[in-house]
Amino acid sequence: MSDATTATVDQETAGRPLHVAVVGSGPAGFYAAQALLNHPALHAHVDMLERLPTPYGLVRGGVAPDHQKIKRVTGVYQRIATHPRFRLFANVSVGQAVQPSELRQIYDTVIYAVGNEASRRMGVPGESLWACTPASVFVGWYNAHPDYAAAVFNLKATKRVAVIGNGNVAIDVARVLALTENELQQTDVADYAFEQLRTSAVEEIYVIGRRGPLQAAFTPQELRELMTLEAGQPIVAPTELELGDSADKQYQSASEQARRVYEILKEIAFTPHQPGKRKIHLLFRRSPTRVHGDENDWVSSLTLRLNRLQIDDSGYVRAEGTTEFEELEVDLVIPAIGYAGQPISGLPFDEQRGVIRNLDGRIVDEAEQPTGEYVVGWARSGPKGLIGAHKAASGQVVELLVDDFKNLPASTIDSNALPNLLTKRAVPFVTFEDWQILDEAEVHRARIRSGECPRIKVADVDQMLGMMGKTPTES
Ligand SMILES: Cc1cc2nc3c(=O)[nH]c(=O)nc-3n(C[C@H](O)[C@H](O)[C@H](O)COP(=O)(O)OP(=O)(O)OC[C@H]3O[C@@H](n4cnc5c(N)ncnc54)[C@H](O)[C@@H]3O)c2cc1C
Ligand SMILES: NC(=O)c1ccc[n+]([C@@H]2O[C@H](COP(=O)([O-])OP(=O)(O)OC[C@H]3O[C@@H](n4cnc5c(N)ncnc54)[C@H](OP(=O)(O)O)[C@@H]3O)[C@@H](O)[C@H]2O)c1
Repeated sequence: MSDATTATVDQETAGRPLHVAVVGSGPAGFYAAQALLNHPALHAHVDMLERLPTPYGLVRGGVAPDHQKIKRVTGVYQRIATHPRFRLFANVSVGQAVQPSELRQIYDTVIYAVGNEASRRMGVPGESLWACTPASVFVGWYNAHPDYAAAVFNLKATKRVAVIGNGNVAIDVARVLALTENELQQTDVADYAFEQLRTSAVEEIYVIGRRGPLQAAFTPQELRELMTLEAGQPIVAPTELELGDSADKQYQSASEQARRVYEILKEIAFTPHQPGKRKIHLLFRRSPTRVHGDENDWVSSLTLRLNRLQIDDSGYVRAEGTTEFEELEVDLVIPAIGYAGQPISGLPFDEQRGVIRNLDGRIVDEAEQPTGEYVVGWARSGPKGLIGAHKAASGQVVELLVDDFKNLPASTIDSNALPNLLTKRAVPFVTFEDWQILDEAEVHRARIRSGECPRIKVADVDQMLGMMGKTPTES
């Protein structure tokens, strides 16, 4: 922003604070709040609304429980949340407890940071069998996400699991399935999932990619981590790594990261299996075409079509089906083929891209006219990218917002409007101070149990509210 613009906004906002609602408390929402609160040209007040009683989005409900170091980023968000011009209103679902149209009236503007919470579908027969469960559900289940805590898995009777997809979520799922009791004890995995994983009968895990080893989306660090497990081991048959006639072209079109992944896969292929370790087979060039089950919705096997790879002029490598098929006997199928956005009633949604309709973060209607609201994070760009990337991305959208709000009209904002509305509707909203009570209680429960476990999460919304001294709403 030019100095001249900065001066204008500064003059406008010095005596006229900008009141912004940020909807969603994941990384993108917190980085947007930080950019607003720290902006030299603004005097912003930020109210963050979150549908769950707990903050932090996928950092709490998605990031693997054995990745505690990554979860420490919540320390940054905690500092943002204790800024005097920040307030949290958790346990408030926008589209249900309060409508986007109401937020438009209460605030100068709204930034949506609602993520991508649904799952992409494979689109094959048998996908809706009970024991074919998307990664979003399995991940939410082991992470004590209230939406998925009641999901049913029977790992004591599950020997073979197919994980579909070659991204980091597929690797997370395979790794968590292979953790030992000792490894699990050092995590914040949900207590009911701890019991199931500790006593699980899983022996073989198949991670299945539709393209080849040079097109895998997982990262070298995550792949290498599989090689350090106490009782799990990645297995790659050397034939899986053959690149065929297009080897040179594939290598040229691969990123530096993909080439490193390929080198690690070669290392894995040369490592003999250690007897007794759970096998994590990495299979490539295979697409599921049918999930088979029985009358109880149990999965019995998976049909996989073998693919060949085609490179187009742009260097993109595509999987093309052959007429060859394989049957894989499995008891559980976990598609990890990407998350997907869900529309919020009252907000424009781009069905094709699965995101809130936007141009560079400005929400636009069907006629591509700005609505005066903004969107950041996965809800803006789709379900790809790491936590750290949201800092710059949310900051850029805040710059657009500052530019759009250069000439503010006189203030009519009532800072009590949202709490008054929620109180009138008997919505038991959770403040950041309330959340800190639950946060401390979860950590305290872990200390009582063992010195290693970082926290024992509460997964039930009513129990959470009770522990924070709130009365749950009658449903
Ligand atoms: C399983 C998994 C593991 C991952 N692990 C890592 C990792 O180890 N390292 C890494 O760097 N990245 C990881 N990522 C990626 C990272 O989690 C995302 O980049 C990031 O969380 C996206 O941020 P977001 O704020 O857009 O969405 P989210 O984190 O999903 O936050 C969205 C928030 O909006 C809330 N919300 C949704 N709808 C409403 C509504 N209607 N009203 C109010 N609130 C609402 C949700 O409850 C949620 O709190 C992982 C992703 C997944 C799926
Ligand atoms: N530890 C970490 O750092 C960590 C952990 C988890 C997630 N994340 C991040 O979170 C983001 C999301 O991860 P993700 O794993 O959900 O997504 P992703 O990285 O986009 O991977 C999705 C995978 O699913 C495959 N796929 C898509 N549609 C398919 C279909 N119909 N049939 C078979 N396979 C299909 C894709 O194959 P194609 O390539 O052929 O499309 C790809 O291999 C990523 O940016 C990831 O890095 C990071």
